[in-house]
Amino acid sequence: MNMKECVLTFLLCCLTLQIVYLLPTFETNKFQDHQVNADPILIEVSWITHDYDLYTIPTLQVVTNPLLARQFSPIYKQIFASLKELNAEYTRYATWFPYPKLAVAELDPPSGLYQCGNVGENFSINLSCEQNGGVISKVDFASYGTSSGACGQMKQGTCHAANSSEIVQRVCIGQKTCNVPATNNLFGDPCKDKMKRLLIQIQCDPPQNNTYYNFTYLDTMLQDFLDATDGHSRIILFCTQPTWLFKQDTPHIYRDNASLTDWGYPVGTGLVDDTMQALGDYYGRLFAWYTRGSFIDEYGRKHISNYEYNWDYTEIFNEVESEHQMTVEYYTRAYDAVIQGIRRHTNNDDMKYVGMALMGHNEFDWYRYFLNHSNHAPDIPLDMISYHFYALANSRTDPKDWETLFSQLDTFTFEVEQIEEIRKLLSPETRTTIDEVGVILPDDNTPGAPQFPMIYWNAAAALYAYSWAKISRQGIDVVGHSQLVGYPELLDLQLQPQFPSVAMLNWTTGEGTAKYWTSKLLIETVDIDNDEGVITQTSDVSGENIFSQAFVGKNGRRWVLIVNKRYANVDVFLPGCTGDRMQIVNEASGFGPATEVTLTSSRITLSPYAVAVIHMPPET
Ligand SMILES: *[C@@H]1O[C@H](CO)[C@@H](O)[C@H](O)[C@H]1NC(C)=O
Ligand SMILES: *[C@@H]1O[C@H](CO)[C@@H](O)[C@H](O)[C@H]1NC(C)=O
Ligand SMILES: *[C@@H]1O[C@H](CO)[C@@H](O)[C@H](O)[C@H]1NC(C)=O
Ligand SMILES: *[C@@H]1O[C@H](CO)[C@@H](O)[C@H](O)[C@H]1NC(C)=O
Ligand SMILES: *[C@@H]1O[C@H](CO)[C@@H](O)[C@H](O)[C@H]1NC(C)=O
Ligand SMILES: *[C@@H]1O[C@H](CO)[C@@H](O)[C@H](O)[C@H]1NC(C)=O
Ligand SMILES: *[C@@H]1O[C@H](CO)[C@@H](O)[C@H](O)[C@H]1NC(C)=O
Ligand SMILES: *[C@@H]1O[C@H](CO)[C@@H](O)[C@H](O)[C@H]1NC(C)=O
Repeated sequence: MNMKECVLTFLLCCLTLQIVYLLPTFETNKFQDHQVNADPILIEVSWITHDYDLYTIPTLQVVTNPLLARQFSPIYKQIFASLKELNAEYTRYATWFPYPKLAVAELDPPSGLYQCGNVGENFSINLSCEQNGGVISKVDFASYGTSSGACGQMKQGTCHAANSSEIVQRVCIGQKTCNVPATNNLFGDPCKDKMKRLLIQIQCDPPQNNTYYNFTYLDTMLQDFLDATDGHSRIILFCTQPTWLFKQDTPHIYRDNASLTDWGYPVGTGLVDDTMQALGDYYGRLFAWYTRGSFIDEYGRKHISNYEYNWDYTEIFNEVESEHQMTVEYYTRAYDAVIQGIRRHTNNDDMKYVGMALMGHNEFDWYRYFLNHSNHAPDIPLDMISYHFYALANSRTDPKDWETLFSQLDTFTFEVEQIEEIRKLLSPETRTTIDEVGVILPDDNTPGAPQFPMIYWNAAAALYAYSWAKISRQGIDVVGHSQLVGYPELLDLQLQPQFPSVAMLNWTTGEGTAKYWTSKLLIETVDIDNDEGVITQTSDVSGENIFSQAFVGKNGRRWVLIVNKRYANVDVFLPGCTGDRMQIVNEASGFGPATEVTLTSSRITLSPYAVAVIHMPPET
């Protein structure tokens, strides 16, 4: 049957059904203005007509932030328990730049025989000469005030506590370690009403080469993530490079407080070491720390972790078009350099890699360049590429507005199509993960922005289910829901907003929202080893009200996904489903799993933005 015949048959059938079955069962709806259709939309599945092969794994991304960190979060256990419950494959774990201490293992550049510290008022500098069993022997520089400059180049500012150096000498000389607080108590107040910092440079006896690795926060979050996803495939991304690897006019001063945001962290254009060896070494050492039990630092000193973790894919950088303004040529070289660095330090040639993680749209030149193997060094794999999609809403509080999210995804699918053409031509063996798919509401990171109504969770959940299904038609390997944990300003925890509308969990309880439960429903239902899409048509010809796609497994198992794209009730008619099991995520299912229903009629009312899966027994 060709497409035209199919549509024709289906329209006729639809008409017949409406006349014969539907009109008598129609009853007036109390919420007439909330109801789209008097007559239900017919869903007609041609169970024996192959539509497309199903390859697309639904999953999610976890982006690090303080609410995931044991050190700051009252709910991290609940969060990781929720993650574990998902049993997702290809979960993406992304350490992200706004919290440099949570994302970067070596925040300060190696400084040779000098050891330096630079902290804001009320934080403290921790000095240590213990490496070779030595003591602090010399204070080269110390200033509490407005001094500045990198290690080896510190300069006194106009505001300076006169006795800074004497005080630090008194506290530290002859000590193995010493902790100097940057306080008015210790130094006096050299300039009232000004932000002060403490800068210190010392040397050790015997001399000691100094580096500044600190894995405190990286370790605990990664451990919790790896535990929660044990036994599953994972994509790990340490997206943020130390800013000091890049050329900057003045060194970037990162936040002292690990849980406060530093949106300006990824600055600098062009690497200081243009051979990119230093970049590769940074990643190599980081990977050796996590996968080989230890690494050798810039001066030949061994740092022992005893970690021997393992994961399948490593992604290289995130949305670099904006951070560090990389061009595709520059990024491609960096991608190769990072892989070479990881191989140098870990001797692991089996790791698979994910490239690009683009956020921009229609950047086809990036794909044409990156996916062309002749633009890479020999032996560099192009295992997978990644890119992102966010639907943007116009209103934070008006549920009706969110009906506009779905057509944005439609536009995106044209882009996916074009990227697929390029990929198939240049590197057909390369897989694809669209690893950030989500919705962002306006003013999301504005403190005090209004809380969106709870039905938002359903609108965003519906958009994800719709995205997964539409994209699955194009044979993409993985579609990842963005993202496990976000939150508005949390005054009790002193946390600044972190994209609350993108969250999948409730930030107060760590429980799943409709976004989470929809992902879980898909993860549990989709079986890429067995399922294929079959021709599915609806009488909602424009597709503005519902989306539906049916799948059939090799074992005959049949299921139908239905997404209500409207902020209104929509009635559908799915012939033959009476007595079958439906799982539905809607406003009523709240923070719980999909509600299970045994259908008593083939006419189903989908409440606003509902996502339903109907399981039908094998056809006999
Ligand atoms: C540092 O702590 C003192 C005493 O607690 C306080 O008065 C002062 O405001 C703090 N300074 C900053 C910049 O937070
Ligand atoms: C200071 O650093 C040493 C090691 O370099 C560490 O053992 C110690 O816990 C640190 N102290 C503080 C207060 O951070
Ligand atoms: C600096 O030290 C000298 C000598 O110990 C002392 O007389 C003076 O008061 C100190 N100045 C300040 C600002 O603390
Ligand atoms: C590493 O960072 C943590 C948290 O800020 C701190 O407590 C610890 O002292 C640091 N370790 C070293 C060796 O400086
Ligand atoms: C410091 O590092 C340099 C260069 O790697 C090396 O030549 C020197 O011996 C090291 N010094 C100490 C005291 O470790
Ligand atoms: C791949 O890149 C090489 C070298 O940059 C170029 O000569 C070639 O035309 C490219 N191939 C395609 C199919 O674009
Ligand atoms: C750092 O932030 C945390 C909360 O995010 C807060 O509890 C703590 O007081 C802050 N520390 C300083 C010194 O500002
Ligand atoms: C989080 O859960 C609590 C308790 O169920 C609920 O009161 C609150 O509205 C939820 N918040 C969000 C944003 O989902």
